[in-house]
Amino acid sequence: MLDLSPLAIWRNSAFSRAVDAERRMRQSSAATARVVCVASGKGGTGKSVVATNLAVLRAQKGERVLLVDFDAGLANDHLLLGLAPPFDLGHVVEGRATVADAMVEGPAGLRLLSGGVGRHVLAHPTRREFERLLKAMRPLEDEFDLIVVDHGAGIGYTTVTHLCAATTLLLVTGHEVTALSDAYALYKRACLVNPSLRVGVVFNRTPDREVADSAWERLRGVCRKFLGRQPELVGHVPADLAVGRSVDLRAPVSLVEPDSLAARGLAQVARWPQIDVARSVEPFYERALKALH
Ligand SMILES: Nc1ncnc2c1ncn2[C@@H]1O[C@H](COP(=O)(O)OP(=O)(O)OP(=O)(O)O)[C@@H](O)[C@H]1O
Ligand SMILES: [Mg+2]
Repeated sequence: MLDLSPLAIWRNSAFSRAVDAERRMRQSSAATARVVCVASGKGGTGKSVVATNLAVLRAQKGERVLLVDFDAGLANDHLLLGLAPPFDLGHVVEGRATVADAMVEGPAGLRLLSGGVGRHVLAHPTRREFERLLKAMRPLEDEFDLIVVDHGAGIGYTTVTHLCAATTLLLVTGHEVTALSDAYALYKRACLVNPSLRVGVVFNRTPDREVADSAWERLRGVCRKFLGRQPELVGHVPADLAVGRSVDLRAPVSLVEPDSLAARGLAQVARWPQIDVARSVEPFYERALKALH
């Protein structure tokens, strides 16, 4: 018999509220993409090589991957993937294309949103333009499992805004003192704007393991000494002629020379466990919009 006593009604409604809340949380975490930012202090450290190969390797595993080339105005992920997108994020900011128009399909089914080449509007977006872009990107978070954002070098405000909202950063550096110094500067800034950010370091283009290890010891020593914390070592990608050959072929080295030393290093990066949990309760682009204000 149906119990309509006030206690039973209260119990049922409290219980159903709890079930609803749990369901909503599961649905939202299942629907919202994980987001990994790829950045560096110094230019030319290999961010785009790491980002494109990470995107391809994860797409090969069956994940729905979106690669966003946010090296705004000087994008080249499309070149590394052999693609020629008709529209880019600059067109989206200008209202001349939607993100759906600008997205193109790449190797292993990944999707690319290109930053465009030589476009002032993206290199130096006003806050209003940047806000428009973040709002346009927001729905994409429900359509992908993983969003990889490839940033330009340095700590410009668009990169810092992303870092405020992100849970996970891949910091790509070389072993030279200049690259280490810039990596430290970026790490310091990232920790300042987002203390809970998990930062993994990738040493790229290192001559050998010993050099990478000693560079890591230096970087982590300085971080511990001056910041009282340190990033995580994700791996090292050796200097390998296979990368140059793959760039010439306009195809990721993980696809064209999967057994090369560089491809093996990149595969290790793509296995970083933090990538599997790079998600916050609040959607990334909503956090980014809040950080902008
Ligand atoms: N592991 C490697 N071995 C050999 N060459 C490499 C390696 N990684 C990158 N390169 C070379 O360095 C070039 C620059 O790499 P990439 O474009 O990824 O750097 P970046 O950090 O994205 O540069 P930017 O700061 O301009 O965005 C590549 O075109 C490639 O030829
Ligand atoms: Mg780049």
